[in-house]
Amino acid sequence: MSTRENWGSRFGFIMAAAGSAIGLGNIWRFPYMTGSNGGGAFLLIYLGIVIGFGLSLLMAEMVLGRTTQKNPVGAFRALGGGAWPAVGYLGVLTGFVILSFYIVVAGWTLAYIAHMATGALSAPGLDYGKIFGDFVASPVEPVVYAGVFMALTCWIVVGGISKGIERWNKVLMPALFVILLILVARALTLPGAAKGVAFYLVPDFSKVTAQTFYDAISQAFFSLSIGMGTMLTYGSYLSKDENLPSATLTVALLDTAAAFLAGLMIIPAVFAFGLNPSAGPGLTFITLPAVFAAMPLGAPFGVLFFALLAIAALTSAISILEPMIAYLVDEHSLPRRGMTIVASVVCFALGIPASLSFGAWSGFTVGGKTWFDLMDFMANNLMLPVGGLCTALFIGWFWSREARHHLSNEGRLAQPWAPLWTFVLRFVAPLGILWIMLAAFLKD
Ligand code: PHE
Repeated sequence: MSTRENWGSRFGFIMAAAGSAIGLGNIWRFPYMTGSNGGGAFLLIYLGIVIGFGLSLLMAEMVLGRTTQKNPVGAFRALGGGAWPAVGYLGVLTGFVILSFYIVVAGWTLAYIAHMATGALSAPGLDYGKIFGDFVASPVEPVVYAGVFMALTCWIVVGGISKGIERWNKVLMPALFVILLILVARALTLPGAAKGVAFYLVPDFSKVTAQTFYDAISQAFFSLSIGMGTMLTYGSYLSKDENLPSATLTVALLDTAAAFLAGLMIIPAVFAFGLNPSAGPGLTFITLPAVFAAMPLGAPFGVLFFALLAIAALTSAISILEPMIAYLVDEHSLPRRGMTIVASVVCFALGIPASLSFGAWSGFTVGGKTWFDLMDFMANNLMLPVGGLCTALFIGWFWSREARHHLSNEGRLAQPWAPLWTFVLRFVAPLGILWIMLAAFLKD
């Protein structure tokens, strides 16, 4: 394994990990989840879950990767043996499931950049719901954009760790934060934005149910990229001298800041134009174009916004692809380039039915869910929480002393929080995940 690559710098690693975490989950999903789950109440519960055990799980995955310098399957095989590699296999599979719907939404953002730039979305009196509905239902255009997006992702991952993934993240992530701050400033200075700020920050607990907690937990896993071995794989390319706990904290802070800012941009803008914040997944593609059409210089701001989404999606998609590539390369000594192309073609093929489930194949459902909804549900509500649960149990109960030793860089870093971390992995995370999943299923 002497040829295994490493990150070129600590900054590069942090940008790549933050690039993975900050994605459609933060800018597309988080604001609409917050909008339809009572605003500030959802925000508070979400923050509680991130601090309560999201952060601990993020560090757990990173230390598994850095210690073993392996992919998810190899890491669990090396440390746990027995049936534990199954957790790694689950992660590899989850990557295919997530990418199949992720590239569809990412493709929409590429299309909307184009539609915004040509002015097709800024004529007065347009019905944005119908425009979006017709676009996603069409059998060709969204599929082509999903393919373009998959090809871009593939191209970056073929480039490898430092010359592909790291190089792009180092440019794209700072750009993302600059765009995000410009858009937040624009939204907050719109007349009438204050009502939206109040909705976002003042919690209304009357809308909170077991489902709200379940949504917040799946949102936290998805947003922090935990539960499928992405952060494990990224950690495996990190040198053993880096301060991993501080890097983990930085990544979690950046991810949470990005989600918070995305909400602070979108929700006040929606309120300023008297629109409904609980439009669900269409919030970004239906409600926001209406906002851009009504504001001065809306078209350039609109292009900037969809570019922000596309960047966020791209840096995440590469991190969803990487674990399966690492697995194929490490465990089966297959060539990186060829495997990346093959895996991308498979993901694209799985994305076609996901895209068509908004149109031609919308009648094809399993348990009332279209292919797109099914993939989203399986990944976010089952596979990621179960993967996170197993990772917490593994480290908490079987590998906690060694994990702490590695996290302290062989005793060189003080870690006063270590007993708390073990406690969270042993009890808080597993019981919290199980309790929330059961409560939500029993209700259905
Ligand atoms: N965190 C990414 C987002 O918020 C999605 C993701 C999930 C990436 C799982 C990697 C692994 O969009």
